[in-house]
Order: sequence, then C-alpha cells, then structure tokens
Amino acid sequence: MTLYGVGLGPGEADLVTVRGKRVLESCDVVYSPGRLSRSVALEHVDDSKIGEVDFPMTRDEEKLRAAWKEAAAEIAPTARDGDAAFVTLGDPNVYSTFGHLRRTIDAFHPEVDLEIVPGVSAVTAFTTAMGVEIEAGAGLALREAPSGASPTGPDRLILFKVTDAPATHEGLIEAGYDVTYGRRLFMVQGDTIVTDDPADVDERDYYTLAYAEKEDLEVEQATAAFQRDSDTDSSADTELPDGDSNGEPVADGGKLVALERAEGCEHGDCEGHR
Ligand SMILES: C[S@@+](CC[C@H](N)C(=O)[O-])C[C@H]1O[C@@H](n2cnc3c(N)ncnc32)[C@H](O)[C@@H]1O
Repeated sequence: MTLYGVGLGPGEADLVTVRGKRVLESCDVVYSPGRLSRSVALEHVDDSKIGEVDFPMTRDEEKLRAAWKEAAAEIAPTARDGDAAFVTLGDPNVYSTFGHLRRTIDAFHPEVDLEIVPGVSAVTAFTTAMGVEIEAGAGLALREAPSGASPTGPDRLILFKVTDAPATHEGLIEAGYDVTYGRRLFMVQGDTIVTDDPADVDERDYYTLAYAEKEDLEVEQATAAFQRDSDTDSSADTELPDGDSNGEPVADGGKLVALERAEGCEHGDCEGHR
C-alpha cells in the first residue's frame, strides 16, 4: 500500500498537523530514526506501533548506503502489505533523513507507493519562537554552519547545525550581522533558549540554529507609521476603525485590513480572484 513520510514539526506534540496525526493513527507501523522523533510520535500512537530502524553515526558513504538499504528492506514489506509511516522532525523534505529513504525505496522497492505529509519546519517556526518577521519582499537564505562555520553574504540568513556558536558568532559579527540563537524551539525535550549571546549556547547541542540579519538593513513598512503616530501623539487620529484603541486590526474596513487586502489582490490572493 503506502509508505508515508510524516513531518512531525519542531518537537511539540500539538504542532503535528491534523493530517499527520491521522496518518500516524491509521498506519500499521511508525518507523522513527531517532529518540526525539520517537517521543513526539508516541504522543499520538502506542509504543507497540513503533518500528525500530538504526542508522550509524558516520560520514562513511559506503556504511550509510548499507544502512539505508537495510532500513528500506525492513520497511518495504510493511508498506507493501499495509501502510507504514517514517517520521522526521520538522518537514520530511527539508534537510531530512527521509530523502535517503525515499531514494533507496525508489531504487530497490519501486512497488511501494510513497506519500509525504509536510510538517512545520524549523525554517519557519524560528520566526515565531524568536520574534522575527520576514516581511513580504524580503529574501531569506538557508545555510548550514557546523563546527564554527560562518557562511555570509545574503542580508538575512537562517543557519542550521550551529554546533559551535561562539566561533560562528565571531565570523558573523565580523561580516556585519546581528545574530540571534534559538535552541530547542517548540521542543518538549530539553530547555528552549533564545538569546543573542553565544555564551548562552556554547555547549554543543545539535538542535541549535541562528538567525543573522545585516545590522545596517533598513526596512520601511507602510504599517510602521502606526507605531510612529502613537509614539508622537497617543491621541492622534491613526485612521483605524472605531474601537481599535490598541492598534490591532479588529474590524473589517480598517486601514490595516485594507492594506493587507491590497497586497493579497496584488498577488492574486483575494476573493475576486478565486
Ligand atoms: C537536519 S536539520 C532538520 C530540519 C528539519 N527537517 C526541519 O524541517 O526543521 C537539523 C537542524 O535543524 C535545526 N532545528 C531543527 N529543529 C529545531 C528546533 N526545534 N529548534 C532549533 N533548531 C532546530 C537545527 O539547526 C538542526 O541542526
């Protein structure tokens, strides 16, 4: 029948999508490549449904290929006779082990159908966890920064695998970036840390990322005027709809709502375009 690659989100059970949960519940076996993904999966399915697959901690490609072939040979019969799931943290198509399994299954077990259930990736979840807005029109580059690496260039970077934050920090500061670190964001296991001090995350923890933004980056948002107006004169008419004393977009017909509508229409995403 089908092998589902299911994204579990960053690490909290209620950030698994409704579809992901439904698929996990309906599958005969849920294979997990690690302790953290297993603990999230266990919030949705019984221990008896969890299948073991082992991957060696090595960069030796020969050994890795052998391990993936073994895993595929273990999983394929279950997915042929019934439904199986292979879970990954975040999204299965973003820097994920699922890609190896998918290619190995394609190559050696083409009779197995594959389907992917997307998950909330750290690529997007970091924004909420770290209070960052990637506004419309902005670019955001994703890079890896293991062992103290400091990839630079674009105005905004999200860096994965920050295993030596102090060393990575040095290179980024030298290149003119403001940097914030996020560790174990939306993750029940371990402590969540959000900080701009690399000393707070100097202990190696694989689940650490960094957001770097050029310090001289100037972003002028149309709605920033609301903030300026209320800073200079709290009683000033901000042209917001009645009853909106907090500057929140509470009512249809307000300035902010209208602005958002206009942006949506510009991109073909409004009622009239459906
Ligand atoms: C191999 S990538 C997996 C990405 C995952 N598939 C996703 O879509 O989020 C692992 C890296 O993602 C980042 N990461 C993943 N989940 C995270 C979390 N909950 N908190 C902080 N960083 C996370 C870390 O930088 C980690 O080294």
